[in-house]
Amino acid sequence: MERLTPDATEIAEFLDGLASEGELPALSGHKRRSAAGGDGVIVASWGRDGRIEAHGVVARHGDRYALETAVAPSLAHPEGERQVLDLALGLVPEGSPFTVWAWRPAQRAVLEEAGFVPIRTVVRMRRPLPAPPAQVPAGVDLRPWRRGLDDEAIVAVNRAAFADHREQGAMTVDELVEATREMGTEPSDLVVAAIDDEPVGFCWTRPVTPQEGEIHVIAVDPAVAGRGLGRALVLAGLERIHRRGGRWARLWTDADNERAVGLYRRLGFTQDAENVEYAH
Ligand SMILES: CC(C)(COP(=O)(O)OP(=O)(O)OC[C@H]1O[C@@H](n2cnc3c(N)ncnc32)[C@H](O)[C@@H]1OP(=O)(O)O)[C@@H](O)C(=O)NCCC(=O)NCCS
Repeated sequence: MERLTPDATEIAEFLDGLASEGELPALSGHKRRSAAGGDGVIVASWGRDGRIEAHGVVARHGDRYALETAVAPSLAHPEGERQVLDLALGLVPEGSPFTVWAWRPAQRAVLEEAGFVPIRTVVRMRRPLPAPPAQVPAGVDLRPWRRGLDDEAIVAVNRAAFADHREQGAMTVDELVEATREMGTEPSDLVVAAIDDEPVGFCWTRPVTPQEGEIHVIAVDPAVAGRGLGRALVLAGLERIHRRGGRWARLWTDADNERAVGLYRRLGFTQDAENVEYAH
């Protein structure tokens, strides 16, 4: 394999092609958005005869780098995975701490063989729709997002709720605006929970396929957590997904986020996939 220099469209076509064939997207959402490069991101493609067979994305988080790769089915075997891992490791600046995200079975086997150990697991959970209607706690209003007007408050709730979450907690107003534009988020796709008209939680959904929607982000201000807002927001998000024609809903969460995982289980979600972060 040799290093290729595809443009953003060719990279997107490669990744979308894998996503439509595979059980999971080729890259996680954060890496997918910067798959053609970006601030603090290193990317490379490799292949043969000008055709991309593997793509690597290395994102910087503070002083640490996180690496993900997407490979064509022709390389999803131990020998291919070993080759791609070696190439991708070459993208990490020398001497820097790094981790590798992996969900393909052959890739995980190769990492474990090479002495990598799992340090974090995110799981995908799904449930069929419709779900029961939301019961809104007293004093709380569930309403659609007011584009622009709610943005500062949504970012503040997100920052407080995800204070321990390095990627999600750092979302800025500009990034919210950009992501909602990219995803075509309509006001009703982002349900806001408000007390005295002030946003204190939100559930942001998006269609993934015509039959399936995703809870992209859900957050409740820690100051009002544990009062049933989370449960009501999940159900309101599910109702929105169903209204847009979704027969299934999915979401991703950290496996050790017991509160969220417990809530989703009690609301009928079951795990169907996982992505694991490895460190050396
Ligand atoms: C997950 C989150 C949205 C829940 O919001 P919330 O308003 O606190 O949720 P609720 O009050 O509806 O409680 C949800 C469930 O958690 C349970 N719960 C409450 N506190 C808990 C705790 N400390 N540990 C475990 N479970 C807890 C409640 O009993 C409730 O269960 P039930 O609905 O079966 O009665 C909120 O905690 C949050 O924003 N967390 C940070 C962001 C996050 O992790 N988002 C999800 C990532 S995918």
